[in-house]
Amino acid sequence: MELDAEEKDTVIVLDFGAQYAHLIARRVRECGVYSELAPFDVSPEALAARSAKGIILSGGPASVYEANAPVCDKGVFELGIPVLGICYGLQLMVHLFGGEVVRSPKREYGKAELKVKDPSDLFKGLGGQLTVWMSHGDAAVELPEGFEAIGVTSNSPYAAIRDMGRRLFGVQFHPEVAHTPRGMEILRNFLDVCGCASSWRMEAFVDRKVEEIRKQVGGEKVLCALSGGVDSSTAAVLVHRAVGDQLTCVFVDHGLLRKNEAQEVLKAFRDHFKMRLLHVDKAAQFLGRLKGVVDPEEKRMIIGEEFVKAFTETAGEYGPFQWLAQGTLYPDVIESAGTGSPASRIKTHHNVAGLPEWMAFKLLEPLRDLYKDEVRKVASILGIPDTIVKRHPFPGPGLAVRIVGEVTGEKISVCREASSIVEEELMKSGLHGRVWQAFAVVGDDKAVGVLGDARKVGYIVTVRVVESVDAMTADWSRIPYEVLERISNRITNEVPGATWVTYAVSSKPPATIEPQ
Ligand code: XMP
Repeated sequence: MELDAEEKDTVIVLDFGAQYAHLIARRVRECGVYSELAPFDVSPEALAARSAKGIILSGGPASVYEANAPVCDKGVFELGIPVLGICYGLQLMVHLFGGEVVRSPKREYGKAELKVKDPSDLFKGLGGQLTVWMSHGDAAVELPEGFEAIGVTSNSPYAAIRDMGRRLFGVQFHPEVAHTPRGMEILRNFLDVCGCASSWRMEAFVDRKVEEIRKQVGGEKVLCALSGGVDSSTAAVLVHRAVGDQLTCVFVDHGLLRKNEAQEVLKAFRDHFKMRLLHVDKAAQFLGRLKGVVDPEEKRMIIGEEFVKAFTETAGEYGPFQWLAQGTLYPDVIESAGTGSPASRIKTHHNVAGLPEWMAFKLLEPLRDLYKDEVRKVASILGIPDTIVKRHPFPGPGLAVRIVGEVTGEKISVCREASSIVEEELMKSGLHGRVWQAFAVVGDDKAVGVLGDARKVGYIVTVRVVESVDAMTADWSRIPYEVLERISNRITNEVPGATWVTYAVSSKPPATIEPQ
């Protein structure tokens, strides 16, 4: 593939199974250099073919002496390209070149002070001492020939090492995490050693992916389940840009969507992007099957089954399709198959979970190396409207998980209208973009209110606003009382059937974000 000039400066991160491997690639991209992951055993030829100008070996949970420890091809070090080994990456380099690594009696975990012994390359401009973040069990105790220490800590005489001749570097600590405050500068210095300019921008990612998708798909047909969320929308527009009408999108309306969601999705994708979009209205089927069901897991199961049914019917009618495009992001990848697994599967929390086996699609997942905020950037570049880009994440089973007890038409309406008010008020006060999710929950609890002079019994609506970076943990948002007051007043005045408003002040853990 022809690369743009700015994409010629590519740095490949070899993934040895570290939790932080994707974060390293992301940090390199933040430095303005294109980076992506490759499996640890990628061939040197493949690296050369990808025009790598630098290679980073990630950390990993293994010990170099374990029988099945992941080892890269030694030819990787003979490409003449600078290599930076991080944590396990350093240990592997030391081991492969004939030094010695031992299991430390005690694991070093947490902050450490690094004394810089040589400030000429990796630590250029960073002064004599740096706070760094350590997390390792094994440690190098003897360096191979040609290597020298360029940084030490009280526990690690070889906390940073270098082989000047071969341009190989290693750090025992993690420069990619926020706990190493000047870690980005260390990475930037490594990129300077590689001769990479800071000229890469997300626009180049779009061009690269469009070309890749075109090549992969050829003349075949692609199906995409579009939920209207930013991930599937971005994947769909990217694939559409690549292969046009070879893509068909299916938008299944289960009757549990947010206010105006279906109209906005249709307007954006059908009218604006002129995509082949099938709007499959299955509200009656979904809601019919949910009648009388109160158990949250049963609700999820029914919705999953109905979704697959709707999707399968549509695929059968309009197919055959060889590809399934999905907006899988990096955090989805860690939750399911483990990093870098080439055999990715469709995940249970995705809308198209549990498709029958005969539907053997090939998967197109153009966003799988990206984080959510990076996807939002891609979405804006592609011209996806803000109403979609800036929407909060929304669960596949929709309002059903925000309705405690049986899902009824009345409760859907209270939940939908109240949620819309919560979002509108947060937008007006400038808080919407700063919180992770904001919505209303409704159950069967009712409370007495007054309407005019009359007594009225209505639903208790719980407002939930949380802050989070990845939804793994979340804190309830301390939004100002005045905003809460406006939300409360509007819900009781404007939502028929609602009399009381409460605010959820539980964080995750121990609570979860969604009530069900
Ligand atoms: P919880 O409630 O587990 O939610 O703290 C964490 C994040 O995941 C979203 N969520 C889902 N997303 N399908 C999805 O696509 C689901 O079934 C689902 N359940 C929860 C939730 O909105 C939050 O952002």
